[in-house]
Amino acid sequence: MKDLPKSFKRLFIVITLLALVIWIRAICQMNWAMIDVFHLLIFGLLAAVSESLPVSLPRGGYVTVGFAVFICAAILFPFGVSVSVAAIGGLFVFGKEVQGEPFYKRVFNASQFVVAICAASVVLKLTATGFSAAPLTIIIYLAAAFTYMLTNITLVAIALGVLQNKSPWFIWFGNMKWAVPNFMALVPLGLLMALIYDNYSSGGLLLLFIPLLISRHSFQLYVDMRENYLNTVEALVQALEAKDTYTSGHSERVGKFAVAVAEEIKMSDEKIVFLKYAAVLHDIGKIGVSEAILNKEGKLLELEWDSIRAHPVIGQTIIKKIKFLFDIGLVVRHHHERYDGKGYPDGIKGEEIPLEARIIAVADTYDAITSDRIYRKGRTHDEAIAELKRVAGTQLDPEIVEIFCKVVKSESTVRTVRTDQLQTA
Ligand SMILES: [Fe+2]
Repeated sequence: MKDLPKSFKRLFIVITLLALVIWIRAICQMNWAMIDVFHLLIFGLLAAVSESLPVSLPRGGYVTVGFAVFICAAILFPFGVSVSVAAIGGLFVFGKEVQGEPFYKRVFNASQFVVAICAASVVLKLTATGFSAAPLTIIIYLAAAFTYMLTNITLVAIALGVLQNKSPWFIWFGNMKWAVPNFMALVPLGLLMALIYDNYSSGGLLLLFIPLLISRHSFQLYVDMRENYLNTVEALVQALEAKDTYTSGHSERVGKFAVAVAEEIKMSDEKIVFLKYAAVLHDIGKIGVSEAILNKEGKLLELEWDSIRAHPVIGQTIIKKIKFLFDIGLVVRHHHERYDGKGYPDGIKGEEIPLEARIIAVADTYDAITSDRIYRKGRTHDEAIAELKRVAGTQLDPEIVEIFCKVVKSESTVRTVRTDQLQTA
């Protein structure tokens, strides 16, 4: 914990102290009966098992099915029990997924669970009676579950933002997209758990816990599948970079420049991810071009040029095979079209060329001018910008060139400022 940023330490102390006050007060204010201790043991165990099987999210943090257990406990039991279940769920995690994790993480997690359960319990107080399945009560349960989720995600986003030096909002929005489907699946399960426990006690609850673990497993498979797509993209780019010495690092830089432009024109988060894949893979078709031609130092013959000009179409064909990247194929196909219609392979012009392809074309041209080649040294940033402006309106989209010049003040600005944003999927 010594090496952690001061701002995280401050946040850690505030949340932990707040949770301790809530927890101790809740325990002291309750008249504990044997049945409450029994509930605490059963639900504490379920919470610890759930929290021991986390599924990592792409922007840091993770989700577990513990949410359903916490909500169920908050609905059924007095505050002292539900808040203790949340604390146990955070502190007593076990298994290989959490092995080697620093202890402060457990303390922080337990604390933010306690704070989130406290926020949810405030909403639950709106129900005058005990547990029931009346429509209005169900709405209150849903509102309480939503309050829990919001508090939980907000605290995690602030902590991750401070720890990783990223914008908490960026993490918050990214993780909300993952957390909402998880929430939709787990809230009904939490309510069902409450209903079954109320009618059939712990035996029925254990039966329901199995589908809960299956739902967690399905979510894990989905996250793994996304990860596999990213690995496929990386493997494809590495295969190309091993073949063509110039391309080494080029794809990644084009990706960074393209994302910088996309952010400036406020492209949606999802489209930016799509553009990043397309930019990184734009030259993948060069896999189908002979190494002797790609690395040739002298002038190329017309036949050799034909072979190079085939790479956008070959690239589209390769990418088409991967279902997830299907749309990207079209952008890869058109990244050598010219704004005046004199490009290849289809000779389309202006806005007929997909926006993403026009952005990649500008980024690609800039990087080609500033990169060192075997036969010449790369030109400076100012020279490259002057060249982009010269060909704006003929080879390149003038509007995109203007935005590019605004965003890329110098090579170093983009290369340092944007790296952190590209590490996320
Ligand atoms: Fe290309």
